Amino acid sequence: MTTTGMSELEANLASLATRFREALANAADERALEDARLAFLGRTGAVTEIRKGIGKLPPAERPGAGKVINDAVAALETELVAARTRVEQAAIARSLEDTIDVTMPGPPPDLGAIHPVRRVILDIARYFTRHGFAVVLGPEIETDANNFDALNIPPDHPAREGLDSFYLRPDLVLRTHTSPMQVRAMRKHGPPIAIIVPGKAYRRDAIDARHLFMFHQVEGLMVGRGIHFGHLKGMLLGMCRELFGTGTDVRFRPSFFPFTEPSAEIDVSCPACKGRGGECRTCGGSGWIEIGGSGMVHPNVLRAVGYDPDAVTGWAFGCGPERIAMKRHDINDIRAFIENAPGFAEALA
Ligand code: PHE
Repeated sequence: MTTTGMSELEANLASLATRFREALANAADERALEDARLAFLGRTGAVTEIRKGIGKLPPAERPGAGKVINDAVAALETELVAARTRVEQAAIARSLEDTIDVTMPGPPPDLGAIHPVRRVILDIARYFTRHGFAVVLGPEIETDANNFDALNIPPDHPAREGLDSFYLRPDLVLRTHTSPMQVRAMRKHGPPIAIIVPGKAYRRDAIDARHLFMFHQVEGLMVGRGIHFGHLKGMLLGMCRELFGTGTDVRFRPSFFPFTEPSAEIDVSCPACKGRGGECRTCGGSGWIEIGGSGMVHPNVLRAVGYDPDAVTGWAFGCGPERIAMKRHDINDIRAFIENAPGFAEALA
């Protein structure tokens, strides 16, 4: 009888343990675990029913029965702790899966964009280097002699006055154009020579929608035997088609520069109206836009650098990347290039 009572109690405990383990295994979260604990090990749970059976045992067996139950409960509580850890870890793993995919590429870094003026310079440089020209750079502080005298600009020329140019000393000036690099390059290398010179130039102009006191130029120079005006036109036509598209046309307007003879302004058919003019805002209705000056290198310039004007001839031009970029992107205020508005370059890239 007593043995029966004890073994029944043990059988009940074993059954409880089996069902409890099953409940733990099925528990998906903290709450299900707590429900299982209350249902089996809690004060009103299944184990309390089993404990009640102790009273039906002979008094001598009661302490032993109590210990068996307590040991079983302690073992099950240990399993509960392990189950809790498992559920917690699973929850953490799930939350990581949901929010972070470490294999996903991050957002691309903000690289900015090439400034539209630089874009023009790079496009011109690419065109001319493809045709065998070298790109050379020169100093922005120039001698009065290179900036003016060697370029056949007489001492009484208005550009030589402090009102038009930034003089640092009586003999030093912030170059008013890139043309003095013609002088430096030809003095350094004998003919033939074919170069372009991008860079900054400075003039004492009041800033407005069309003027900055610091701006860019790209100078071109080609000198050698038998070089003529047709070569100039061919190269400029190619350059303008590269800059504005294949349908672009170029025209020369007679002009004057002390360092070229003959001289011409370079006009390009308007990229906005394709030369039709009319109401076009970009060209003011003429169908043409001016992008620079050009001409055949003056014999006095060739002589000043030690070239023989009877042996070689050459052409030169100078154009304004700001002007070109304005026409390319329909910008009507040159100040936009130096204002650094957020997204300005990116929007035009
Ligand atoms: N240097 C001239 C200017 O700044 C442009 C030019 C360059 C003209 C070369 C003729 C030849 O206006």
